[in-house]
Parts: sequence; C-alpha cells; structure tokens
Amino acid sequence: MIENWVYEKLKKDIGVKRYNHSLGVMHESKKLAKQYGYPIEKAEVAGLLHDCGKLKGEINLLKMANAFGIILDNVTKNNRELIHSVLGEIIAQEEYNIADRDILKAIRFHTTGRENMGLLEKIVYVADLIEPSRNFEGVEKIRDLAYVNIDQCLLYAIDNTLKFIISREKLIHLDSIKARNQILIQKNME
Ligand SMILES: [Fe+2]
Ligand SMILES: [Fe+2]
Repeated sequence: MIENWVYEKLKKDIGVKRYNHSLGVMHESKKLAKQYGYPIEKAEVAGLLHDCGKLKGEINLLKMANAFGIILDNVTKNNRELIHSVLGEIIAQEEYNIADRDILKAIRFHTTGRENMGLLEKIVYVADLIEPSRNFEGVEKIRDLAYVNIDQCLLYAIDNTLKFIISREKLIHLDSIKARNQILIQKNME
C-alpha cells in the first residue's frame, strides 16, 4: 500500500502531466507483473516512482546530480532524458525511503536498459512506453508484444528507440546496445 504523501510529493515535484503519466506506468507495471508472476506491490512502487528524478521547472538536473555526488558518463551528461533516471535512483532512496534494490534498479535503467536486466527492470521499461497516453510510431506493436513475450517486446522497443535516436542524430548509450546484444545472444541460444 503506497502512502498518500508519496503521491502528493511526486505530483508536486514532477508536475501534473508527468504525474499522470506515472500513474499510467504504475497501472501498466501492475498488469505486466500479474502477467509474468512478479510481486505486484514492487511493480506498483517502481512504476509510480520511475520518473521521480524528472523534477519540474528550471532545475538543472546536471547540477543536481553533481550535488548528489553522482558521476555521470559522457553520454548521460549530454542528455537530459538520461540524467533523470540516474538522479531518480538517488531521489527514490533519499526522499522516498526506497531501499529495495530491484525497485531502485528499475528506476535507474528505465531509459537505457542494460545487460542482464531483471524482470522488474523489463516491466518498468516496457510499461513506460505503453501506458495509455503514449503515442508514437511502433507503440501498438510494443503493446501487443508486451503480453506475449517480454524479451521479444524489449528487443523490439529498444530497436524502435535506437532507430528514432539515430534519425535525430542523438547519442546512443552503451547500456542500450549491451541490453540489445544480450537479448539477441540469449535468443540465439534458445
Ligand atoms: Fe523517464
Ligand atoms: Fe516515464
């Protein structure tokens, strides 16, 4: 059971739009947890808090990360989209009292993925993309695959994101490449 103050604080910190997105991700995470036999309560917390580092307003996330003593790699430093997940892990720990390693990792890697993702990390990564308000090219296929085969879904979702990143001339984080390679290697062994 998530306490009320968590919802209140999150809404205040990340703004109503991002908060509503987070409720959607919480809902999808619970559904996926049910589908894949993962503890619902953990999925619920991870889904709700996954964007807790996306502080609204003029806050400089890079400066904040520095203040927390977080050392960012070059790709993350140059991409606000990636900083919020690194910051989120610390904020979840310090300000929302989350100690569960699985939940913290799910927050930390919800944007890039990584090699050897745990089930909760996969669930939140996918839930973030398929919550009802999401609308981008390829989302329907991701929605369909999500409940059939989470690894296949993850592979498709990562490829879809990489294609988008390349088309925009943005940086690719190595963790995404490692996540993708590992799923493929595992698939080839099956
Ligand atoms: Fe995010
Ligand atoms: Fe998100």
